[in-house]
Amino acid sequence: VAERPFTNEPPIDFSREANQQRMQAALDQVRGQLGRGYPLSIGGKPVETGAWIESVNPSHARQLVGQVAAAGPSHTLQAIETAKRAFDSWRDTDVEVRAEILRKAAAIIRQRRFELAAWITLESAKPWRESDGDVAEAIDFLEYYATGMERLAHSRHRNLPGEANETFYEPRGVAVVIAPWNFPLAILTGMVSAALVTGNTVIMKPAEQSPVIAALLQRILEEAGVPAGVVNYLPGVGEVIGPILVQHPDVALIAFTGSLGVGLAINKLAGETPQGQLHIKKVIAELGGKNAMIVDGDADLDEAVKGVVDSAFGFAGQKCSAGSRAIVLEPIYDRFVERLVEATKALTVAPADEPGCGVPPVIDAEARNRILKMIEVGKSEAKLAFGGDVGELANEGFYVAPHVFVDVPPNASLAQDEIFGPVLAVTKAANLDEALAIANGTRFALTGGIFSRSPQNIATVKRKFRVGNLYVNRKITGALVDRQPFGGFRLSGIGSKAGGPDYLLQFLLPRTITENT
Ligand code: SER
Repeated sequence: VAERPFTNEPPIDFSREANQQRMQAALDQVRGQLGRGYPLSIGGKPVETGAWIESVNPSHARQLVGQVAAAGPSHTLQAIETAKRAFDSWRDTDVEVRAEILRKAAAIIRQRRFELAAWITLESAKPWRESDGDVAEAIDFLEYYATGMERLAHSRHRNLPGEANETFYEPRGVAVVIAPWNFPLAILTGMVSAALVTGNTVIMKPAEQSPVIAALLQRILEEAGVPAGVVNYLPGVGEVIGPILVQHPDVALIAFTGSLGVGLAINKLAGETPQGQLHIKKVIAELGGKNAMIVDGDADLDEAVKGVVDSAFGFAGQKCSAGSRAIVLEPIYDRFVERLVEATKALTVAPADEPGCGVPPVIDAEARNRILKMIEVGKSEAKLAFGGDVGELANEGFYVAPHVFVDVPPNASLAQDEIFGPVLAVTKAANLDEALAIANGTRFALTGGIFSRSPQNIATVKRKFRVGNLYVNRKITGALVDRQPFGGFRLSGIGSKAGGPDYLLQFLLPRTITENT
C-alpha cells in the first residue's frame, strides 16, 4: 500500500469575515456551555470523586469554564490497574486499526475546529489564531503519527541461507502522559496519540489549568473507537497523584512536557526502580528554554523587530519556544531598541476572546505573581526600557503588560532563568562571536534565531548556535509537525523531537527473532 503523503492542516484565515463570524458564533456557543462538571474516565466509565478542580477563564477570572473531578490516590491506582489490564489486547490490535482510530479522531476534530478553538480561547486565554493553531497541530499529530506507525510496522527481514532474521517493534506497556496547559490540545494530543498508536495504554493527566479541553479530547478519542481502558482521563492535583503515577512499578513510560523543575523530579523518581518492577522506566521530557534571537549589524530592521516581538510576546511569551532574549550587535543596537520599544508599545493587551487581542493574560494568578516578581528583580539588574500598565484589566483577569529590559548583563537572572511570560531581555554584543557565546551561554538549548543579511554570518550561526530548532530571518515559535520536528537538548529536555521521524521509537521496544531454517 502506498504511504499517505502528509500535509499540514492549513490555518483558518481570520481576515475573512465569514471566519470571524464562525469564531464569534463558536465562542457564543461555548459560553453557553461553561460551568459544567466532568468526571474522570477510567475503563470507559465516568467516575466521580467528590472533589473538584475548578478551571477559570484567565481573561475573565470570575468566569468558571468548568470543573473536573480531582483524582485521589485510590483512583490513580485504579487507572493504572485498568490500563495494565487493557494492555495485552491493545498491543495485539492491528496497527492499521490503531492508526484508523487516530485518523477518525482527526476527522472529528476537523469538524469541530472552531468550537475547540473557542474552548481553548476561553480556558487557556489563547488569542484566536493561536487557538486555531493549537487545534490544527492536534490534527497534524494524529495524522502524522498514524502514518509514522504504519511505516514502523513493517518488520525488517534479513534472510541468509539457513537463517531468517526479523526485527520489529512492540509497545512498552502503560504510558503516563503529563501534559502542559500552554498547548492544551496539541501537546496533549501529540503525546497521547503517539503512546496510543504504538500500542501502549495511556493514563492522561492534563494540566490543572486546562482540564476541560482534555475532557473533550477524551470523549473524542472514545467516539473515534478507542476501546475501554486504553485511554483513561485522570485529572488531579500534580503533587498528589504525580508521584504515584511516576513511581508505580506497572508504569513503563512517562511522557512529560512542562517545567524544568518538575521534569527533573520526574526523571529522578522514575529512575528509582522499586522492588517488583520488571523494567527500567522510559522518560520523555520536553522542558524549558531561554531562547535567544541574534540581531546582526546588517539585519533588516523591519523583519527583525517583527520577528522578535512576535516570538517574545505571542501568547504572552508562554511557549517553551518563545524568544526571551535578543542579542543585538553594537552597530544596530540603539536603533533596534528604539524600534522594538515602539512596536511593543503598540501591542494591545486584551482578553483573548477579543479579536484584536495582541497580548492575552497569563494563565493564572500564581503565574502573574511569579512574573511580576521576576520583573522586580529585573529592575535591579538592568534598565527597563518599556513596561506597560494593564489598568482596569488587573481586576478582570491575570494580565501582565509586555516588558522590555535593555543592557541586560548575560549572567543576570533576566537572561538566564525562564520567565514564561511577556518579558524580553535585550543584550548588546560587540561582534558575532560574542553574540554566539552569549546565545549559547545558558543551561538550555531549545530554539534560537538569527536575523542577518550576511550569508557568511548566517553560515557561522548555523554551525555554532547549538539549539534544537534554529530559525533564520523569521520568528522562532510555531514549529509545524513534520516540517520542523520540535525539541531541544541540554536542560531543555530528554527525548527526540515531537512531530519528527524518531519520536514514536521512544514508545517502542525493538525485538529480533532469528530462526534456523
Ligand atoms: N511547538 C511549539 C512552537 O514551536 C512550542 O511547543 O512554538
